[in-house]
Amino acid sequence: MKHEQIAFIGGGNMAEAMIAGLVRAGHEASAIRVREVRAERVEALQESYGIGVCASLEALSEASIVVLAVKPQQVAEALAPLAGWFDERHTLVSIVAGLPLAKLRAMLGDRVHIVRAMPNTPALVGAGMAALFSDSEGEHREHAEYLLRACGEALWVEREKDMHAVTAVSGSGPAYFFLLAELLQGAGQTLGLSSDVAAKLATQTALGAGKMLVESGRPASELRQQVTSPGGTTQAALDLMLEEGMPELVRKAVAAAAKRSAELGR
Ligand SMILES: NC(=O)c1ccc[n+]([C@@H]2O[C@H](COP(=O)([O-])OP(=O)(O)OC[C@H]3O[C@@H](n4cnc5c(N)ncnc54)[C@H](OP(=O)(O)O)[C@@H]3O)[C@@H](O)[C@H]2O)c1
Repeated sequence: MKHEQIAFIGGGNMAEAMIAGLVRAGHEASAIRVREVRAERVEALQESYGIGVCASLEALSEASIVVLAVKPQQVAEALAPLAGWFDERHTLVSIVAGLPLAKLRAMLGDRVHIVRAMPNTPALVGAGMAALFSDSEGEHREHAEYLLRACGEALWVEREKDMHAVTAVSGSGPAYFFLLAELLQGAGQTLGLSSDVAAKLATQTALGAGKMLVESGRPASELRQQVTSPGGTTQAALDLMLEEGMPELVRKAVAAAAKRSAELGR
């Protein structure tokens, strides 16, 4: 599939992360094109990745995989010229948070094969996590899997409504870990470390913990208990986090993200 024509509608942050993943995975850069309103953005993407540009709808129609990567409020305008335009040959992969298949079909017609995907920005470094949902079968699913697996891991969910929870957990998830790293760095500085040292400690610890989670195959709770000696330093910190309501806070925060995803789709 490395020569398959792929077009991105919208060339922002997430599109760039996916383009970077595809190019790194060996996809032919000239087979990737972007349709984007901001000329300077197109130039930057062309310069960084050697991709092409979709100056016309004809250029877009050559793509078998079209990725919808604009903000939810930009979708109607971006898709207006494409109503009735997609046919059996195309797979539309929508990464737009919250937007249901039914709404996309209402804008584009019934013939279009759509896969909803929720990627995340670690796609930029080949460590993305994406969940996919579709009511289409066969090569349309394969197209979407190829696209997302070039940027990391991908899995399918059975129910479309689960995409809100996916968005809240892994779509927005990197930002939660970034916040924790930021707070850990700040706490280290408060204890007298320089900002460079505190940043290095927090960053490498995040990487190490992430690698252990992935490579050990053991549940997070087990890894946590393993490094928590009774009466030790880790327990002093964790007891406070648990007693002061961190579990409830995380539950509420993730629920707020899922609620926002549902609102964006209305
Ligand atoms: N960022 C994430 O972590 C993440 C994760 C998963 C899914 N998503 C989803 O990915 C989508 C894009 O997010 P993003 O963060 O990449 O947003 P973004 O950086 O704002 O990218 C959207 C790009 O599309 C351009 N655009 C606007 N209208 C257009 C049109 N009619 N035709 C072509 N291009 C148009 C925008 O230009 P202007 O800037 O001039 O408007 C912008 O450059 C969203 O729907 C979001 O829900 C994002």
